[in-house]
Formats: sequence, structure tokens, C-alpha cells
Amino acid sequence: AASDEFARTSFLISAGGTHERLDPVRFLGNRSSGRQGVALAAEAAARGGDVTLLAANVAADVLAELPSSVTVVPVTSAEDLHREVMARLDRLDCLIMAAAVADYRPATSESAKMKKQGDAGLTLELVQNPDILKAAVEHKRPGQTIVGFAAETGDEHASALEHGLAKARSKGADLLAINQVGEASGFGDVPNHVVLVRPDGTRVAEGSGTKRETASVVLDAIATLRG
Ligand code: PMT
Repeated sequence: AASDEFARTSFLISAGGTHERLDPVRFLGNRSSGRQGVALAAEAAARGGDVTLLAANVAADVLAELPSSVTVVPVTSAEDLHREVMARLDRLDCLIMAAAVADYRPATSESAKMKKQGDAGLTLELVQNPDILKAAVEHKRPGQTIVGFAAETGDEHASALEHGLAKARSKGADLLAINQVGEASGFGDVPNHVVLVRPDGTRVAEGSGTKRETASVVLDAIATLRG
């Protein structure tokens, strides 16, 4: 239901997955559909927020879920997203980074299509992208709320949650929404499950359901934090 809970609160929300250009026809990408970020934008707008969505390669049918009050700014790469976030950082009250941002991009972006080289394999050189969330935390001013997401899988060293807790400490965002990704949760048109933690590892909320229901859990936690 519509409310004015977030009246006069400006949200900048990123959604989707960045594309890191290799040549005119190829890129390195990831499985993010943008659905979680779009659900967050729709929910924040329904609660009265003034919302801008930075949409990284989000399909039109997913963007169609947004109310017309949400401003959509399309972006392609991590560097585009970095530039658009930094340009708006001073003016926002709440940043939610739900986009899956490539940590690396090809060291060179070719102007012509790369040709197959004989029968040998190919090694690509990658360079690091800026860490947008970390930069936003470093530039944070009083009154701003910065929220990150972490898509984690368990491995032989630690569980998904343990990886997420380590990320919460290193990123320093006010809240980190840790989602365990698998075939049936996380990326795409599937339910999601999030555990929300503070930088010191304190758990503040947990919830699962549709992406809109997950968005609601995240926005409730933001509302509590902002008092
Ligand atoms: O789009 P959907 O299909 O609906 O799927 C939703 C989702 C699983 C993509 C989403 O819920 C999610 O978890 N997004 C974050 C995905 C991720 O891989 O995050 P990360 O662990 O690489 O990064 C942690 C945080 O830092 C994120 O807030 C990310 O936006 C941010 N980041 C990461 C790298 C980078 N260079 N700059 C960043 O700001």
C-alpha cells in the first residue's frame, strides 16, 4: 500500500549486472537480471521515496515493473556506474547497491572484433574496477544511509553467511544484505533470502520471499536505522 514513510527521502538504487567490454560484439557479464534492484525501487517509491534507479543492462520487461515516478538512468559498465553514483552522492539520502558490479574489466577494449588465433587458447588480461560501495562509504556524510548487497556461495573455506560477514566488515556499509545464491534463489525470476548485517557483524533482520517481499524487509531495516 502507498505510504509517506520515506517522504522527502531521496534514494539512489543500482540494479542489474555490469557489462565489461571486450570488443564491439563481446563483453564479460554476470547473471543479474536487475529484479531485486527494481523491486527495491518500486517499494521505496510506494513508501513515498524520491527514487532514481541506475539500471545496468536491465531488460525492458523487468523495468516495466517500475512506477512512472522512478527516474531510470541506464548504465553499461562498472566505470559508468561509478561515475553516475559519484555525480549524485552529495544529494542522496540513501544509496542501495543491489547491482552485481564486475570487480575486473578487460585491460584493453578492442575497436575491432577479436579474431580467433589458430588452435591455441587465449589469456585475457583483466584490471580492477573501482569499488563503488567502498568509495561511497568513504565519502559518506552524516544522515546518509549506505546499503550493500552480497551474493555469496559457500565453499570449502566458509559458509555463504561467513563470507558475507567478512564482506560486511571490509565494505563498511551501514547495512549489508547477504543473499545466498544458488539455482533456486538469488539471480533471476526466483525468490530471494537475505540476512541483513551491520559492519560489526550484528544481525538486524532476516527475511525471504518474492523479490518485492525481500525489498520490503530491506526497507524496513533502513527505516529503523534512519529512525
Ligand atoms: O538482479 P537479480 O537477478 O534480481 O539478482 C539480485 C542479486 C543477487 C544480483 C542482488 O540481490 C545482489 O546480491 N547484488 C550484489 C551482487 C554481488 O555480487 O555483490 P558483490 O559481493 O560482488 O559486491 C558487494 C557489494 O559491493 C554490492 O553492493 C555491489 O554492488 C558492490 N560493489 C561490488 C564491486 C564493485 N566494484 N563495486 C561495488 O560497489
